Amino acid sequence: MASSSTFFLLLGILMVIRVCGSANDHPSTSIAVDISEPRQIPPTFLGIFFEEINHAGAGGLWAELVSNRGFEAGGRHAPSMINPWGAIGDEEAISIVTEMSSCFKNNPVALRMDILCDPSTCPPGGVGIYNPGYWGMNIEQGNTYKVVFYIKSTGPLDSVVSLVTEDGTQVLSFRRVTADAAKLKDWTKLEIALQARASYNNARFQFTTTQKGTIWLDQVSVMPNNTYKGHGFRNDLMQMLLNLKPRFLRFPGGCYVEGTYLRNAFRWKETVGPWEERPGHFGDVWGYWSDDGLGYLEYLQLAEDLDAEPVWVVNNGISFYDQVDIRLIGPFVQEMLDSVEFARGSPNTTWGSLRAKLGHPKPFNLKYIAVGNEECGFKNYIGNYLKFYKALKKNYPDIKVISNCDATWRPLDHPADLYDFHKYTNISGMLGLTHLFEKMRRDDPHAPKAFVSEYAVTYPEEKMMNGTFGGALAEAAFLLSLEQNSDVVEMVSYAPIFDNLNDRRWNPDAIFFNADKAYGIASYWVQTFFRESSGASLLKVNFPNHTLPNTHLTAISRTNSIDQKDYITVKVVNYNNITVTLKLSVVGVDPNSVRLQSKTVLTCDDLDADNTLDFPTKVVPVSSLIPSEVGKHKVLVVEPFSFSAFNITLV
Ligand SMILES: *[C@@H]1O[C@H](CO)[C@@H](O)[C@H](O)[C@H]1NC(C)=O
Ligand SMILES: *[C@@H]1O[C@H](CO)[C@@H](O)[C@H](O)[C@H]1NC(C)=O
Ligand SMILES: *[C@@H]1O[C@H](CO)[C@@H](O)[C@H](O)[C@H]1NC(C)=O
Ligand SMILES: *[C@@H]1O[C@H](CO)[C@@H](O)[C@H](O)[C@H]1NC(C)=O
Ligand SMILES: *[C@@H]1O[C@H](CO)[C@@H](O)[C@H](O)[C@H]1NC(C)=O
Ligand SMILES: *[C@@H]1O[C@H](CO)[C@@H](O)[C@H](O)[C@H]1NC(C)=O
Ligand SMILES: *[C@@H]1O[C@H](CO)[C@@H](O)[C@H](O)[C@H]1NC(C)=O
Repeated sequence: MASSSTFFLLLGILMVIRVCGSANDHPSTSIAVDISEPRQIPPTFLGIFFEEINHAGAGGLWAELVSNRGFEAGGRHAPSMINPWGAIGDEEAISIVTEMSSCFKNNPVALRMDILCDPSTCPPGGVGIYNPGYWGMNIEQGNTYKVVFYIKSTGPLDSVVSLVTEDGTQVLSFRRVTADAAKLKDWTKLEIALQARASYNNARFQFTTTQKGTIWLDQVSVMPNNTYKGHGFRNDLMQMLLNLKPRFLRFPGGCYVEGTYLRNAFRWKETVGPWEERPGHFGDVWGYWSDDGLGYLEYLQLAEDLDAEPVWVVNNGISFYDQVDIRLIGPFVQEMLDSVEFARGSPNTTWGSLRAKLGHPKPFNLKYIAVGNEECGFKNYIGNYLKFYKALKKNYPDIKVISNCDATWRPLDHPADLYDFHKYTNISGMLGLTHLFEKMRRDDPHAPKAFVSEYAVTYPEEKMMNGTFGGALAEAAFLLSLEQNSDVVEMVSYAPIFDNLNDRRWNPDAIFFNADKAYGIASYWVQTFFRESSGASLLKVNFPNHTLPNTHLTAISRTNSIDQKDYITVKVVNYNNITVTLKLSVVGVDPNSVRLQSKTVLTCDDLDADNTLDFPTKVVPVSSLIPSEVGKHKVLVVEPFSFSAFNITLV
């Protein structure tokens, strides 16, 4: 037990850094951390599950500003709807239709504009079309925007491409674009750089002219020049992912992989190659069109840029409503084998050569394949799964195969390296899961490991729209149990990761964003507490938990790559409305050499508190150094309803 003066000193420090909350009684116990038998936590422990849901990719992480750039979203028909494109000028001045006249055979729809006015009769700003992007384009002063489009014209071109405010009244950047009739007789690609003179977060792209005649447009792209490493990822969103130090990236779904119907499922071969030639597709589960700028190669690049291992979820011939017969699944298996060859085959293989041609000769480090998503109960699942499994093990024996069947419920009746575990529940359900994995059998070292690939507190739905601090605290307790049981749990990812605030199809999500802002909910910040866990050593803790209910803790050690010193981190969830004090000892170590150095605390006295666009940092972790005199006493003071990480050094 700490002396009372120490306690008050500690309390004083706490008061300074507390966001909210109040201390009541403080039950105390001792914990003994034993460094003699460390067990390595899997190097892939904490990762990200990225699904194309809520416009996470199209209109999110993928920085393309034009929505429906090839006019294909309305279907392969003419006439077709061209939303969100709109007309500039009335019907007497310009007629706009779609035609099946594109120069790209995979995406045949193109836009045709008949300009009926001339310089003397057109409105002063000209007539044409605009694209507002995904709920407004974020244009930043000084930044350059690369505009690319394909164009054909019956006469000479005299036009203006511009970035303007949402009503067109203010011009942020423009360029006059002219060309001879001869040059545009056939489809021609034009590229223009626009530099923004002002910032505006609800801008649109415009193409206008006052020249009478007919102009066709197709595959119109506007890309900011400041994407992450120039790879097309929106920088602020990328930074939020990097901040988690994810060690794997599961993609591209989820249900997105399955489709409501197979005809709308994700087909990787239709998402690679020049962006202009990609057909795009309607993701029928989440109900929106994707131009597939973020395709299979970009997902692999994303994993590489995050220094995360790709976990490729393949469609195994099953959607919500249809299932390919086991006898006929062969071509789907081949699609998967081709995708692996594309990712990691040498440049002299069929698909590896395509990857090299597209600019990435070095193979990607693809070692995980998930066969389907949440389909264990489907009639053909096991039969199809086994065909995928056998083909993978024959051709790529080092690839780890992930089954959809939950082995916490009963042992699998089929071979697998890992099994998916998904859980969306309420707070008490999440807290109840903290004992699930300690009950798993340990007698078979070859038994498949758990991949907790989707988890979140989501109920009650209305209350959990934005997540809550209480929900995140329950998730923290669950994550501590996974860390504790990481001999049988190899990987974990929260779901979903992203949500565009303009298209909230699933709630909550770790990161909310709009065109120019992004923030994490409490569940996002909880994950940051585990970013050092992957590959660290789990230490034994002697902790008489019966005296302190609703308290969860782990201890890990790791070597700091910067100063090469060993740190012990004790993480504690206190799900009580009462302060808890833990007297720490480190077994077999001179007590004088043990120092509490710093701590990071996520807390709030309102369990229902959430982060929102207007108040994005209500619930965020606060880090502080512990003064060396106080640190000597080794009393971990854990605030009511808090998640705390204490850094300990051995000096
Ligand atoms: C983007 O373009 C602007 C203006 O040309 C330039 O100042 C800036 O350095 C560019 N940014 C990147 C990341 O290339
Ligand atoms: C492809 O190249 C690798 C070395 O990069 C070589 O070992 C292999 O034999 C080649 N395969 C073919 C089919 O040429
Ligand atoms: C939480 O979920 C569990 C399991 O689904 C359910 O039994 C329980 O009634 C729920 N509790 C509340 C408070 O809604
Ligand atoms: C204490 O921990 C043991 C082993 O981890 C567990 O079985 C038990 O349910 C825990 N007790 C409480 C009150 O949490
Ligand atoms: C915790 O206790 C304080 C003081 O009794 C009370 O005001 C507060 O509402 C309690 N918080 C919760 C979440 O129960
Ligand atoms: C622990 O210390 C390391 C090295 O100084 C630092 O990177 C890390 O953020 C600290 N963690 C906490 C929980 O304070
Ligand atoms: C949820 O977040 C949205 C967007 O930040 C905000 O408009 C809304 O008020 C929040 N709802 C609650 C219940 O806090």
